[in-house]
Amino acid sequence: MRLLLLGNTGQLGWELERTLAALGELNACDYPAIDLADSNNLRQIIRDCQPDLIINAAAYTTVDRAETEPDLANAINSIAPAIIAEEALHFRSAFIHFSTDYVFDGLKGAPYLESDPPNPLGVYGRTKLAGEQAVQQIGGAYLILRTSWVYSLRRDSFVNKVLGWARTQPTLKLVTDQVSGPTWARMLAEITSHLSVLASKDSFGWFSEHHGLFHLAGSGYCSRFEWGQQVLQLDPHKEQQIVHELLPALTAEFPTPARRPLFSALNCDRFFQTFHLHMPEWKFALKLAMEMV
Ligand SMILES: NC(=O)c1ccc[n+]([C@@H]2O[C@H](COP(=O)([O-])OP(=O)(O)OC[C@H]3O[C@@H](n4cnc5c(N)ncnc54)[C@H](OP(=O)(O)O)[C@@H]3O)[C@@H](O)[C@H]2O)c1
Repeated sequence: MRLLLLGNTGQLGWELERTLAALGELNACDYPAIDLADSNNLRQIIRDCQPDLIINAAAYTTVDRAETEPDLANAINSIAPAIIAEEALHFRSAFIHFSTDYVFDGLKGAPYLESDPPNPLGVYGRTKLAGEQAVQQIGGAYLILRTSWVYSLRRDSFVNKVLGWARTQPTLKLVTDQVSGPTWARMLAEITSHLSVLASKDSFGWFSEHHGLFHLAGSGYCSRFEWGQQVLQLDPHKEQQIVHELLPALTAEFPTPARRPLFSALNCDRFFQTFHLHMPEWKFALKLAMEMV
């Protein structure tokens, strides 16, 4: 199987490169070798590769900066997925794309289903939603995996931020009113890789049969406060922490350029019922991830 992975240095992409490498001939690239904002460059890379499966882990993910760079966010998050979907259909390639819980406004009060109406609060969520809709409209052998609160220990994730703050600040304030499902990039990459194995004999046919939009995030949900609390407890180098007080706070105390949904946990039952694979509980995944600190 020939695979094309776009965005192999991001949190998820880095893990994907490692899990997908065993499945066949893997071409992995990232900015600047590939620029998702440059349609010609993107089309050429896909045409040169003619892969059986394209996995797009690249995205404009800087939620606050997107508010002042809407055109760039739109090019990367909306237009590029549409181009990938068009080329994929042309070359009979299967296509796995990732999206976000930030397509929702967070007002439902219960985990979101795929059938719930999206209503993004900011540019990032709006551009990711437009990307989803474009891929769905073009059709083909695609899978859109909506996930939430992705972290890895390699990049500047919430987990690394909490560890950093705990080593430099005596008091830490974390919000209790933002709730979702923390998702370890490695687990998401491994499930993506399992799907690719299931499809490997005829990826276009298999993904055509199973195409659609699915929620896939760490099982269960928590507030950022609870997440941070677990990070501090699981930190294998507690002796380096100087924090002695973890205080609950509200989102309103930390104004940011972009509004974020308050409760954006995803209900992932549809993914499990379809593929018989599921993400482990977020606390279990975090425990495994923290063994690498
Ligand atoms: N992070 C989260 O909490 C979260 C939550 C829900 C959904 N998601 C979705 O999950 C997917 C993976 O997210 P992630 O956390 O792994 O993101 P990430 O760590 O920010 O990685 C994104 C990758 O895209 C690359 N990229 C940015 N602009 C590009 C361009 N013009 N051309 C080519 N590559 C470009 C980045 O390169 P540089 O590093 O050089 O900029 C980076 O390697 C994305 O679709 C994201 O929307 C993420």
